[in-house]
Parts: sequence; structure tokens; C-alpha cells
Amino acid sequence: MTGQLTLQSATLKPWHTLGFDVKAKGVVEVFSEVDIHQILAFAKQYDLPVLPLGEGSNTIFSSDFAGIVMRVCLKGRRVEQGNDGQLVVYGAAGENWHSFVRWTIDQGASGLENLSLIPGTVGASPIQNIGAYGVEVKDVIDWVRYIDIASGEVIQLKASDCAFAYRDSIFKQQLRDQIVITEVAFRLSSNFTPNLSYIGLQDSHAKTALQLSDYIVKVREAKLPDPQHLGNVGSFFKNPIISEDHYQVLKENFPNLVAYFVGGGCWKLAAGWLIDQCGFKGIRKGKVGVYKHQALVLVHYGEGHVEDLLSLAWDIQQQVWLRFSVRMEIEPRIYPQ
Ligand code: FAD
Ligand code: EPU
Repeated sequence: MTGQLTLQSATLKPWHTLGFDVKAKGVVEVFSEVDIHQILAFAKQYDLPVLPLGEGSNTIFSSDFAGIVMRVCLKGRRVEQGNDGQLVVYGAAGENWHSFVRWTIDQGASGLENLSLIPGTVGASPIQNIGAYGVEVKDVIDWVRYIDIASGEVIQLKASDCAFAYRDSIFKQQLRDQIVITEVAFRLSSNFTPNLSYIGLQDSHAKTALQLSDYIVKVREAKLPDPQHLGNVGSFFKNPIISEDHYQVLKENFPNLVAYFVGGGCWKLAAGWLIDQCGFKGIRKGKVGVYKHQALVLVHYGEGHVEDLLSLAWDIQQQVWLRFSVRMEIEPRIYPQ
């Protein structure tokens, strides 16, 4: 922890990638589990909520936060030999995700390369079960270690108990706002078997995990805005999942519909396509807008207000509903809810 903790209202502008000028009652950085226990005790004493934050790349502050924002900065990573060509890799929660992925590749471990360049921290990766280019992090997580905010108890949860699903986990549901993740363990492979299932990846001709990672970095850079230069939280909405009947009706009316069969009689729609069809791609409304290369990404040009972004999101939800009868769920976490 840096220095003595005193409560002092502080802007959250530098600590979340949308960059709105909202405030918290206090912001503190923690570097160890001991620091976390200390902050939790302090917050209990003053009856204040605590919000753990990584790099703020999937968080929307819809107004000031009446509590302590705890920036999780725990560092450390190590690798151990597992069974059958497996490598067990451990990352402390505050490690930057992309640096961690590249480090695992340097260690000869593969399995995370498709998740290259996703912003944020190792500790946040299980929260929404980050996914990209045919891989979800649940596929390789072994366990998640966390501190229970109410009791201070330290718990190690096996992946099979994390209720992982598309952009979802126990940490967004039953354990929502109740825990601080401190470490994640991953089971990776010492043999590289490329996962090129996502459309377009076959063109990479990748022979190594590093080549595949480099290719994905290029694809992402062409499609997604760099939050260091343009405020955003990646995909603003989840890709909606609809029934077979609904899919058939839409396909008949919109033959170019972009949809993927996901089993159980359900289809996942490309939300970016739906928004694009409604004419929002590239539009700007004052200080906020829709990214010109990817309609699923809402952007903040700076000095704007979060209300404007949420109002634009609402317009998009309404238009998509009117045109396709599809409900679009906001993907990042909103505080206060
Ligand atoms: P934060 O925004 O800091 O936190 C997110 C949530 O997790 C909050 O509820 C917070 O309270 C909680 N949290 C964070 N750390 C902890 C912790 N240690 N303990 C307990 N709770 C914690 N996501 C994808 O899945 N796939 C993508 O391809 C993808 N692409 C993106 C591209 C861009 C340009 C951007 C800006 C975002 C993208 N995202 C993507 C979303 C985001 O990168 C991920 O959700 C990432 O895991 C968020 O990490 P973070 O550290 O910034 O989390
Ligand atoms: N599309 C359009 N217009 C657009 C954007 C997309 O028509 O403006 C159509 C295209 O046909 C494209 C298809 O939608 O082929 C899918 O687009 P893309 O490959 O960019 O993926 P996505 O479904 O929009 C999802 C994730 C991303 C992840 C990529 C790659 C969600 C909500 N988003 O986006 O995750 O990086 O796939 O796997 O599932 C995030 O969660 O923040 C995120 C960026």
C-alpha cells in the first residue's frame, strides 16, 4: 500500500478506460494480500463499500462511487511443470493481461495466445470469462484464489466451481462485489496446437504460439480502438443469444444476418452487425459515439459525460429492438448499478 490511508475524494478519470471525470470517496493501491486485509478492515470501520478495480477496461462509473476504489496491483508470475506435457502457470491479480500472455509464450507455454492484447489484468480475466478468437479463458483456468470481503477468508475455487459461461461467471453472479481475486492458475500446454477455428485465423498460417499472438495483435489493432487514445470498454453489448424460431424469422427477413449456431437450439447474433444495420456505425453525438471500424464499440472522445454515453446506448438498444425484436444486454460492469 502506498502511504497511510486517509479518506480523500479522488477522481477516477485515470483509472478507467472510458476516462469520465467521476469521483470516489477514496482510491488506494494494494500490492499484497496483507494490504487487502488492512483496507477491508478500514472500510468496515467506516462502513464503506470497497470496489476492487484492475485497469478499469470493463467498468462504467455511471456516477460518483460512494466508497473506496481498491486498485489491485499485486505482481508475480511463475511456471511449474505439470503432468502430460502440461505447464501450470500462476499470475498475481495485478499483472497486466497481455504482458502475462506474452510471458507464458516465452516460457514455452501455449493456450493463451488467442487472448492476446485483451486489455486489463490477470485478476479480472475470470470475472467475465474473457474470450476472443475462438478461446475463452475458462478453457485453461485451473483455479482462482480470492479473499472474501465480508469474512476476510482466503478461498481457492476450482474452475469447475466458477460457473463459467459466455461473458459470465460466479464472480458476476452469486459472488458479485463480495470478493477480491488475488491470483489465478492456468493449465497450459508445452506443445503448440493452433486454434484457428475463428473465421479469418486460417490466414495466419501460424506455426508457433508467438506467430499466432502477433497475428491476433494485428487483427485487433485494425479493428478496435486503443483505449490509451480513445476512451472505450471494448464490446459495449453482449452478442445476443436467440431461439431457433426467432432465428428463422430473422433469417427470412434479413438474409445477410450474421449468426453462429451455439447448440441447444440457440443462435448467437453478431451485435455489431445489428447495430451497423441500424445505421449507428461511425456516428458521433457530441463527445461520444460509435467506433467507425466496429459498431459494437462505443467511444468517448474526452471531456464528455457518462450520461451521454448511456443515452446513446439506450438509443441503440431501442433501435435494435424495433428492427429485430432483439434485446441487447450491456456487457461491462456498471457502478453504481
Ligand atoms: P476492470 O474493468 O478493472 O474490472 C472489471 C470488473 O471486474 C469490475 O466489476 C471489477 O470490480 C472486477 N475486478 C477487477 N479486478 C478484480 C479483482 N482482482 N478482484 C475482484 N474483482 C475484480 N473482453 C473480452 O472478454 N474479450 C475481448 O476481446 C475484449 N476486448 C477488449 C478490447 C478493448 C479495446 C477494451 C477496452 C476492452 C476489451 N475487453 C474484452 C474487456 C476487458 O478488457 C476485459 O473484461 C478485462 O478482463 C477487464 O480487465 P480490467 O482489469 O480492466 O477489469
Ligand atoms: N460486424 C458488422 N459490423 C460491425 C462489426 C461487426 O457487420 O461494425 C459483423 C461482421 O460480420 C463480423 C461479425 O460481426 O464478421 C463479428 O465481428 P467481430 O469478429 O469483430 O466479433 P464480435 O462478435 O463483434 C466478439 C467479442 C469481442 C472479441 C471478438 C473476437 C463479444 C461481445 N465481443 O466481437 O470481445 O474480441 O468477438 O473474438 O462477444 C469484448 O468483449 O470487449 C470484445 C471486444
